[in-house]
Amino acid sequence: MDKIVIDGLCPLKGKVKVSGAKNSSLPLIAACLISPSKFILKNIPRVIDVHTMIKLLVALGSKIEWLSEDTLSIDSTNVKKWRAPYQMVSKMRASVCVLGPLLTRFKKAEVSYPGGCIIGTRPIDLHLKGLMRLGADIQLKDGYVVANAKELNGASIYLAGNFGSTVLGTANIMMASVFAKGDTTIEGAACEPEVVDLGNLLIKMGAKIQGLGSPTITVTGVKELHGAEHTIISDRIEAGTYLISGIISRGEVEVEDIDPKLLTVFIDKLIECGVEVTYTGRGIKVKAGKDLKSLEITTLPYPGFPTDLQAQMTAFLTTVPGISFIHEKIYPDRFMHVAELLRMGAKIMREGPTTMIQGGELKGAPVMASDLRASAALVLAGLAAKGRTEVNRVYHIDRGYPKIDEKLASLGAKIKRVKE
Ligand code: EPZ
Repeated sequence: MDKIVIDGLCPLKGKVKVSGAKNSSLPLIAACLISPSKFILKNIPRVIDVHTMIKLLVALGSKIEWLSEDTLSIDSTNVKKWRAPYQMVSKMRASVCVLGPLLTRFKKAEVSYPGGCIIGTRPIDLHLKGLMRLGADIQLKDGYVVANAKELNGASIYLAGNFGSTVLGTANIMMASVFAKGDTTIEGAACEPEVVDLGNLLIKMGAKIQGLGSPTITVTGVKELHGAEHTIISDRIEAGTYLISGIISRGEVEVEDIDPKLLTVFIDKLIECGVEVTYTGRGIKVKAGKDLKSLEITTLPYPGFPTDLQAQMTAFLTTVPGISFIHEKIYPDRFMHVAELLRMGAKIMREGPTTMIQGGELKGAPVMASDLRASAALVLAGLAAKGRTEVNRVYHIDRGYPKIDEKLASLGAKIKRVKE
C-alpha cells in the first residue's frame, strides 16, 4: 500500500482543475445496462471506484474501453447476466446501483447484499421498499438480494428515511421505473446534482422524467431506451477538498471547472468563517482572511452542507481559533478522521453525532487512512501541520481522488507518494 508524505506549513498557491464526479460516474455507468445499446460517457475520472464499476459491468457482459484519458465507450448489447457477484459488490457498496438497471432490463436481478463500511451500516431498505412498490418480489438468499418482477407498474413512492433522502436509492428507483407501466412518483427524492445528472442521461436515452433536483420526481414509463452520449458533471466534493487545501495552508487557491451553484452552502460557510471567496468565471478562488472565525455546521441532504465534506472541514476547523461544532446528521458514526487528527495534536471532543473542535496548531505524525473522505482530511491536515505527516494506506484516497498528490504538488505542496 502506497503512502503519501507531506511536509507542512507551506501555503498553497495557484490553480487546479476539478475532474468528473465520482458519484455521478458510478450510477451513470450502471444506467448503461438498461438498454442493449452503445454509450459514450465523457469527463469520467480515473479513480479506483470507477475501475471497480467497469469491472462489474464487464463481468455482466458489457464491452467497455477508454477512448481517451476521461472518455468511456460502453456497449451493453451483449449483457446477458443479471447476477452481481459478492466478490465485486463487497469491494464497493455503490455497486448496489446496478440493481435497478438489471431489474428493469431482465425483470430479475441478483445483487449481493452490500456490506457496511467504515462510515456506517449503509442499509438499502429504502431501495428495496421502492422496488417492491413497483411490483418486484424481493427475497434475501445466501446474502444476495434476489429481485423478480413479472411486470413493473408505476407507483407513488415515499423514499426518504430517518436520515433524509437516499441518493443511490433515488437512482435505483428512477432506473427501475423507466419501463414501468404508467407514472411513478418518487416523493422525498434526493436532490443531489449527481441524481440530476443521472436523470439527464436517462432523458437522453429516451426516458420521460420530470422534477429532477426537486424532492418530487415523476417518471412516465416508455417502451424502450436507446444509446446516448453524455458529459458528466464536475466533482463538487473534490472541488471543496481543494478549496480547503488553499485555506488550511493559508495560501490562495483557485479551483477551475466547477459551478459554484453546486457548493452554495459550503461557500456560505467559508464566507461566514472569514474566508475571501472570489468567483472567477471559470471557477472559485479562496484566500484565508486575517481573522478566521469558528463555525457551527450541520450536515444535511443536498442542498444542505454535504456529509462528504465534513471530515475535510473538521481538519480545517482544527486550525481556526475558537470553538467550532459539527453535527453529522447523515452518518452519525462518520468520525474515523477524529482519532487520527488527535494524533496530530488536534483538540476535538466527540459526543455522539456531534464534535466540538477547539482551534489550535497541528503537528506532523504518521496517520492511517480509512474511508475516502477521512483520508483526504488527513492529507489536508498534513498541509497545515508543523513537520512531516505520513498518510498510510493511500488506496482509500485513490478510490475517489484522481492524482491527489500530483494536483497538490502543482499548487506548491511539499508532497510525495512513496510506493510501499
Ligand atoms: C451517496 O451514498 C454517496 N455515494 C456518498 O458518498 C454520500 O455520502 C451519500 O450519498 C450521502 O450524500 C455515491 O453516490 C456513490 P444515501 P448513498 O443512500 O446513496 C440512509 C463518498 O464519500 N439510508 O443517500 O449510499 C443511510 O444509512 C460517498 O463519496 C437508509 O437508511 O447514501 C444514510 O444515513 C460516501 N436506507 C442516509 O440514508 C437506505 O435504503 C443517506 O444515505 C439508504 C440509505
